[in-house]
Amino acid sequence: MFPDAPITSVEDLRRLAARRVPRMFYDYVDCGSWTGATYRANEQGLAAIRLRQRVGIDISRRSLSGRMLGEDVAMPVALAPTGLAGMQWADGEILAARAAERFGVPFTLSTVSVCSIEDVAAHTSRPFWFQLYLMKDRAFMERLVARAHDAGCSALVLTMDLPVQGQRHLDIKNGLSTPPRPTLRNLVNLATKPRWCLNMARTQRRTFRNIVGHVEGVSDASSLAHWVSEQFDQTLSWEHVRWLRRLWDRKLIVKGIMDPEDARAAARAGVDAIVVSNHGGRQLDGAPSSISALPAIAEAVGARTEVLFDGGVRSGQDVLKALALGAGGVLIGRAFLYGLGAMGEAGVTRCLELIRRELDLTMALCGITDTADAARALLDAPAYSE
Ligand code: FNR
Repeated sequence: MFPDAPITSVEDLRRLAARRVPRMFYDYVDCGSWTGATYRANEQGLAAIRLRQRVGIDISRRSLSGRMLGEDVAMPVALAPTGLAGMQWADGEILAARAAERFGVPFTLSTVSVCSIEDVAAHTSRPFWFQLYLMKDRAFMERLVARAHDAGCSALVLTMDLPVQGQRHLDIKNGLSTPPRPTLRNLVNLATKPRWCLNMARTQRRTFRNIVGHVEGVSDASSLAHWVSEQFDQTLSWEHVRWLRRLWDRKLIVKGIMDPEDARAAARAGVDAIVVSNHGGRQLDGAPSSISALPAIAEAVGARTEVLFDGGVRSGQDVLKALALGAGGVLIGRAFLYGLGAMGEAGVTRCLELIRRELDLTMALCGITDTADAARALLDAPAYSE
C-alpha cells in the first residue's frame, strides 16, 4: 500500500497500525491465546457465511439506526472493552469514547484501561458502559461499581470468561509492560516509531488508572498478569451475578457466553443482556468460533434477554451476518483498536464509517432496508459441526 493511498477497509487500518504502534502493543492486540486457533476461527466462521443476493426490491430508503440496551444507536454496533487502549495512542480510551459518542454508538471502558472511569467521563457526555472483572476484594469492587455509577455509566458489563488468564505467547516474548521498559530491544523498536513516542510524550496517563493504587506494583502487564491471578475470583458463579444485580440498578450485561446452558443461567440471574463471546480468541484456545455459538444461544434466550455478539467482526458484512443469526447488536474490538493505533480518534471514526458504509451497501444488495430484517440476508442457515 502506498503511504498516501486512501483507507478503504479495516484491513488498511490494521496495516497502518502495524507500522505505527510499537511491536509489543500491536502484538497485544493482534494475537490470540496459545495457537491462535480460536482467534482465527472467529474471522473464518464469519467469512464462511454466504449472503443472499436479491434484486428488484425498492431499497432507496434504508435505516441502520436502532436501539441497544434501550439506547438510541446510529447502527447496532458498540465498542468492546479492551485493555490498554491508551497504549495504542495517548489517551486512547478518551479518544475512542469521543469518537463513539460523535458517531452515536456505545463505548465500553475496560477495568484494565489506561484512562480511568473519571478521565473518560470528564471528556464525554454520552453515558458509556463499564466492564468489570470479579475480584476477591469485594470492597474494591464495590468502590469501582460506585465510581461507575457516579460517572453516569449506563451499563455494567461483567466479563465471565477470564477467571484465569489464557496465555498469549507474544506478550511474554515481547515483555509487554506499560510504559515499555528501556531494554535494548524496546529502544530499537521505539526508535522506529517516532510518531508514537511523540504522541505518548503528550500524556501523563501511561498506566492502569482504574486499578493502580489498589495493589502496590500494578503498573505493568507482567505485574498485571500476577495481579489477575492473585485478585480475580475463581469462585465466580451465578450467585455473584445475582449479587451484582442487587448492587447495580442500571443495565447489567454478562460477557463471555458460549453455551446455551450458560445463557439460560444468565437470564435466570436477571441480566439485561449477554454477549456471546470467546474474548476474541484470547482465552480458551480450542473453543469454537463465536459466530457458530450464536444461533443456538439466540434461540435459547433471545426472547427473554438481549443477545449481543462479538468476535472476528472486521466489516459491515460481518455485522449483518451476526444480526442475521440472532444478535441484537455487535461489539467490535480489534477493528477499532487498529483505527486507534493507526490514526487516533480519526482512526476510530474511520473504522465506524467504514463499517456503517459496508453495512448499508450490503443491506441494499441483499434487498433489505432495515437491520431488523437482517435474517432475510442469509442464503441459508450455516450448518455448524465444529
Ligand atoms: C480484549 N477483550 C477484553 N474483554 C474484556 O471484557 N475486558 C478487557 O479488558 C478486554 N481486553 C481486550 C484487549 C484486547 C487488545 C482485545 C483485542 C480484546 C475482548 C473484547 O472485549 C472482545 O471480546 C473481542 O475483542 C472481540 O473480538 P474482536 O472484535 O477483537 O475480533
